[in-house]
Amino acid sequence: MGNEARVGRSELALAAGTAVNAVFAYSFVTAWRRKGAPFVPSAQAKIDAIFGRGGVLQSHVRRRQHAVDLGSGGGAFVRAAVRNGHFARATGYELNPALVLFARMQSVLARGEHFRLCSLWDADLSDADLVFVYGVPSIMVALEAKLTRELPVDAVVVSNLFRFPDVENGRTTALVEEASQWVDAGLQNLSMDDSGMLFVYRHRAKSSE
Ligand SMILES: C[S@@+](CC[C@H](N)C(=O)[O-])C[C@H]1O[C@@H](n2cnc3c(N)ncnc32)[C@H](O)[C@@H]1O
Repeated sequence: MGNEARVGRSELALAAGTAVNAVFAYSFVTAWRRKGAPFVPSAQAKIDAIFGRGGVLQSHVRRRQHAVDLGSGGGAFVRAAVRNGHFARATGYELNPALVLFARMQSVLARGEHFRLCSLWDADLSDADLVFVYGVPSIMVALEAKLTRELPVDAVVVSNLFRFPDVENGRTTALVEEASQWVDAGLQNLSMDDSGMLFVYRHRAKSSE
């Protein structure tokens, strides 16, 4: 390989590395400032455990009009909700513009797959049938309050790895844990997500707040 080609390749690698680092750096800063998780994509096995044969969706979700991902990252959940879960539409809320652009590019020809450059704390949950979140422990108390205030009765919430503390501590809440399951994910497809729990909840009644 000539010197020029080598220089070209290393410039490309540098540019790609810088872009990836910028996405992750942005993600960490926004996560820290705006109360959310940094960008770590869910393992494909977890997405399959929701939308695959015999998954959470088949046994627990009764209506399939609208699925929501709170912090949608690269958009895998939104795409799977429409393409495998046959939801009429799915919306991802994401603060990182690079991830929103990346996700939109993959859904450019798809109907019903939407990505909003918007904080998950401003997400409209009023007609959500299924909500997915891969958050961090520090947001789970406030998130539980938002979900119980805004979700319609019967909506299903799936949380990757982290439990809602009120449910864990046995306190009365409108979110009832229904079918949590261990998913053997391994470290697949360069995902940093690993084997772990998917916690599944149903919103039983409006919060009295
Ligand atoms: C752990 S990743 C999960 C990504 C995706 N849901 C998945 O499971 O593959 C969390 C995502 O939430 C985004 N995020 C963090 N805080 C947020 C906020 N306040 N509003 C919207 N998105 C946020 C991050 O940029 C990141 O992409």
